[in-house]
Amino acid sequence: MIQKRIIGTPINTEAVVKVIEDGYRAWDKLMVTDKLPQMLSVCIDENKNQIVISYDMDKDDIVYGLGESMRGINKRGYIYHSLCADDPNHTEDKVSLYGAHNFLVVQGKENFGLFVDCPGKVIFDIGYTSSSKLEITCESKDANLYYLTGNTPMEIVKEFRELIGRSYIPPKWGMGFGQCRWSYMDENEVTAVADGYQNNGIPVDSIYLDIDYMEAYKDFTLHKERFPEFEDFVHKMKDRGIRLVPIIDAGVKIEKGYDVYEEGVSNDYFCKDEDGNDYVAGVWPGKVHFPDVLNSDVRKWFGQKYRFLTDKGIEGFWNDMNEPAIFYSEKHLKEVFEKIEEYKSKELDIEEFFAFTGMVAGLSNRHKDYETFYHNMDGQKIRHDLVHNLYGFNMTRAAGEALDKIEPHKRMLLFSRASYIGMHRYGGIWTGDNQSWWSHILLSMKQMVGLNMCGFLFVGSDIGGFGSNVTEDLALRFTQWGMFTPLMRNHSAAGTRRQEAYAFERTEDFKNMIRLRYFFLPYLYSEYMKAALRGDMYFRPLAWEFPDDKHATQVEDQLMIGENMMIAPVYTQNATGRYVYLPEEMKMYRFRSPMDVDVDILEKGHHYVECALNEVLVFVRQCSIIPCAGNAMSKEMKNTDTLDDKNLILLVNPNILNGEFKAVEYEMYSDDGFTKDYENPKNLRKITMRDGEILRGKRIN
Ligand code: NOJ
Repeated sequence: MIQKRIIGTPINTEAVVKVIEDGYRAWDKLMVTDKLPQMLSVCIDENKNQIVISYDMDKDDIVYGLGESMRGINKRGYIYHSLCADDPNHTEDKVSLYGAHNFLVVQGKENFGLFVDCPGKVIFDIGYTSSSKLEITCESKDANLYYLTGNTPMEIVKEFRELIGRSYIPPKWGMGFGQCRWSYMDENEVTAVADGYQNNGIPVDSIYLDIDYMEAYKDFTLHKERFPEFEDFVHKMKDRGIRLVPIIDAGVKIEKGYDVYEEGVSNDYFCKDEDGNDYVAGVWPGKVHFPDVLNSDVRKWFGQKYRFLTDKGIEGFWNDMNEPAIFYSEKHLKEVFEKIEEYKSKELDIEEFFAFTGMVAGLSNRHKDYETFYHNMDGQKIRHDLVHNLYGFNMTRAAGEALDKIEPHKRMLLFSRASYIGMHRYGGIWTGDNQSWWSHILLSMKQMVGLNMCGFLFVGSDIGGFGSNVTEDLALRFTQWGMFTPLMRNHSAAGTRRQEAYAFERTEDFKNMIRLRYFFLPYLYSEYMKAALRGDMYFRPLAWEFPDDKHATQVEDQLMIGENMMIAPVYTQNATGRYVYLPEEMKMYRFRSPMDVDVDILEKGHHYVECALNEVLVFVRQCSIIPCAGNAMSKEMKNTDTLDDKNLILLVNPNILNGEFKAVEYEMYSDDGFTKDYENPKNLRKITMRDGEILRGKRIN
């Protein structure tokens, strides 16, 4: 059951799609403090302009959720600020990343979910200040609260997902392997990357264009010298089976004569400063204005701009810097320069030295700057910081809605860096500027559960790590994790060591791992689609699948994918294996390539399992089938278009009772991967294995 409580006069964030009316109960009339039977108290602090929600946690309560945030799958023991942040240092102490995903589920003495629909800053103190206290503070007196109950976290999540609407569905090619770098500077470099993959027999579906494809970092322009025949080039690459995916940034360069700038100014489409002038900030191109995407007219206008690239054959985009990231605000930069003048004549002592360096370091993404510009939310003037977390959502919504009009029957690839719940209906996300650190494999794994709970299914992290120099072993282990994420993209920052799959000595191993992704794709795609269409989880914590198993709640470095597959990636340097916990007897496949595999049955319990650098482990649950692509090793298979999901190879963990083989079934979803006929019953078919013969290698039609 879902109960909604309206506090104050909240902004309609449009995170929720379901109208809460019949069948739902409103919480009691607003009182300054009131208690729900479940000891969840809500207090409105008029003086501090805050809403504080608190709950006494039992010692064994587990708290799941909060989407893309730091730390564990169980969020207990730390504090998280819901405040979209452009921060490339994802160290353990960080409290905010790029997304604001205010949904959590408490499991324990009582099971409930809570969605705090408040687009400004919200602080989730989950046993940080006091170990048994869950305290949520909205820095606003206006919010919609949704309180959800159910018997299990999964039940609550399903309810929540119905409330917020169906998750974005990418084209199937978007689930193929993609290669990115900041930046492939011109046609020649992109061609070299395509050659690097295809000449080495490594499948690839997409190559990404980072900011340097544009002229002077201006959205919806092309750098004429670097990409002189862009449209031809897009088609040439498509003929090779590779789609180009350009980046779009939030800030629009201020430049006389630039159409996007001129139209934005003349129609009042940009965010305004206190005096009603177009707000000026600095990002890649220098000074920019921010399109006021919280306004529906602006969304329509900005969204239609994507046509500039779709007209040239582009079928996918990634939206970046949309927290929005601010290198500096014009106003504050001026103040800093003036201060620097003052400092020139001074001897800098300890205090002044740090004040001086802090001044420059503190220019970027300054909260005070977010308090100095305004949106026109369809007639309502509102200060940015109060709706900060909606910016990335609405930039991507602008694109998503426009792409639906531009290509009504075709799925387009779309994902964003910043997000709020609600954006999951329009696109996916990547987890931003991670680093080439071993710990970031594990962080990425832990982020997936919270993201899926909040509706973000099309997710992935930069494989190999974005910042700093990767090592070959890390890149390979990262690939062995990333091969299971719906968005599988290798990406790295300017100035770092090259990390394309062919850039290392062990090219063959990279090739085998990427081919394995395509091998598993029939299952991964099927599980993705079922999760999207049914409000289910693609990545699940073990504890949800094995609720009676106490050990399972402790496992945060293994994940279930759908119902049948468990993965246990290796994430430590020099490790040639790892400990794995099995909540039941499972079949273990140790793959070196789709055609090179050892199979073992492992009993329930703890195991040390060998897993060399060129190997990946896949566990198959009892009585289940994992359908895989029959042609994943063939020369002809070079991308998702050439992948055969009809002639399958099945990984089967049979159902043998008293020596007798019982039927095993898998409900497989498959479709053309391009059109939007998702609900067609023909997309679902049952795969049934009836005799004891089938292990691996049998093909079915
Ligand atoms: C920041 C993004 O997070 C990163 O992926 C991108 O490469 C750079 N911006 C440059 O566009």
